[in-house]
Amino acid sequence: MCVDNNQKKIDTLLAGDIPIYEPGLEEIVTKNVASGNLQFTTNTEVGVDHGEIIFIAVPTPPQPDGSVDLSFIEKVAREIAAVLKPGQYRVVVDKSTVPVKTGEKVTDTINRYADKGVEFDVVSNPEFLREGCAVADLMEPDRIVIGANSDRAMALMQKLYEPFVAPVLVTDINSAELIKHAANSFLALKISYINAVSQICEASGADVEKVAEGIGMDKRIGRHFLNAGLGYGGSCFPKDLAAFVAIADQIGVPFTLLKEVMNINENQLERFVDNIREKLWVLKEKKISVWGLSFKPDTDDVRESVAIKLLEKIVSEGAEVSVFDPKGTDKALEFFPDLMSKVKVCATPEEAAAGTEALIIATEWPEFAGADFAKVKESMLTPVIFDGRNLLDPAKMTEQGFDYRGIGRGVDLEKVETAS
Ligand code: UGA
Repeated sequence: MCVDNNQKKIDTLLAGDIPIYEPGLEEIVTKNVASGNLQFTTNTEVGVDHGEIIFIAVPTPPQPDGSVDLSFIEKVAREIAAVLKPGQYRVVVDKSTVPVKTGEKVTDTINRYADKGVEFDVVSNPEFLREGCAVADLMEPDRIVIGANSDRAMALMQKLYEPFVAPVLVTDINSAELIKHAANSFLALKISYINAVSQICEASGADVEKVAEGIGMDKRIGRHFLNAGLGYGGSCFPKDLAAFVAIADQIGVPFTLLKEVMNINENQLERFVDNIREKLWVLKEKKISVWGLSFKPDTDDVRESVAIKLLEKIVSEGAEVSVFDPKGTDKALEFFPDLMSKVKVCATPEEAAAGTEALIIATEWPEFAGADFAKVKESMLTPVIFDGRNLLDPAKMTEQGFDYRGIGRGVDLEKVETAS
């Protein structure tokens, strides 16, 4: 039983439409709605009566100073409290990403607003799925973290997760909450680390792809999340890092390392645009195509997308931009109408590239690698590619006659060819 206060969203789901693009999700929802396993309502009481376990999965957006806006969590806690009934034990599980000690606040709030004698426990069970592969990540997670301070709640949670083949880490609530922020921050740190290395590669004539491969082969480091590019975006990393920094400041242990991770991330886009300016000089009136709007492939999510930030920059400098994204265009039009009104939206990557002086790859959709580059080269005014995600093979692109510029790929290809 899924509860949401947005009637329109519930109506959409009841009609069998999924409001986001997420591979595999539609089939699961359709199948389970048809079998009656999955239901939707706007009535909190119906949701609370329905099951022993209640997941809170509301947004925890950032405030201007980076700290987390917990008003949705607080409101839901009050709403649950108002309909809890004595003699009806409930486990209230926090799924949303929240600052450490939020569980304590949720417990206090429910205690304050509920009738005397209600029985409940609060649990922290952070989610680690990624957009674009959410279904697989949920069904086959690397681990399940359950933070509870009561045996009764822990037993119920373990029973819930019994069918999953994944290690279960049992902790206290505070540690579970911290695991989520610490994990996302560490992944962002890996990305900023390789992006900082990419700058050194560019300056020294090395190839960041080889460096990432070489360090990633060390099992202690691992190759994941060492893809250099325009930096991380999306609705999680930027917000969670700012939140973790704010939490650390609040409890008096400033996390300066993470501030640098954030600086490197911002700098990475600046440097990329500098490289474009270096080649094209003035961007005003330059015809540029951008492939990719979503914050990463396999999603239509454009929130905090670096591709959108890049678009904003070059459009503000007067570039005439044509864009293509396989799934993200509708969301971009919905959330960035002003920006999108200033660009030409195209139906194919080839159409976007035609007649332009440079092509920028901002999101690594796999289909971009399979584009018809002979046609693209033929139709461009000047065949320059800025590959912000190192999606393409520099040697192949150079061979096809492109002036190819990736991230951290400072290798002199002529020299490599001579040497081999
Ligand atoms: C992230 C985490 O990976 C999930 O474990 C977590 O559950 C989720 O946040 C969350 O907190 O809800 P997500 O934001 O969906 O998932 O996407 P990621 O695949 O982590 O990518 C985030 C950003 O990092 C993207 O902009 C991506 O392009 C960038 N990235 C990722 C790189 O620049 N390089 C890499 O090597 C990997």
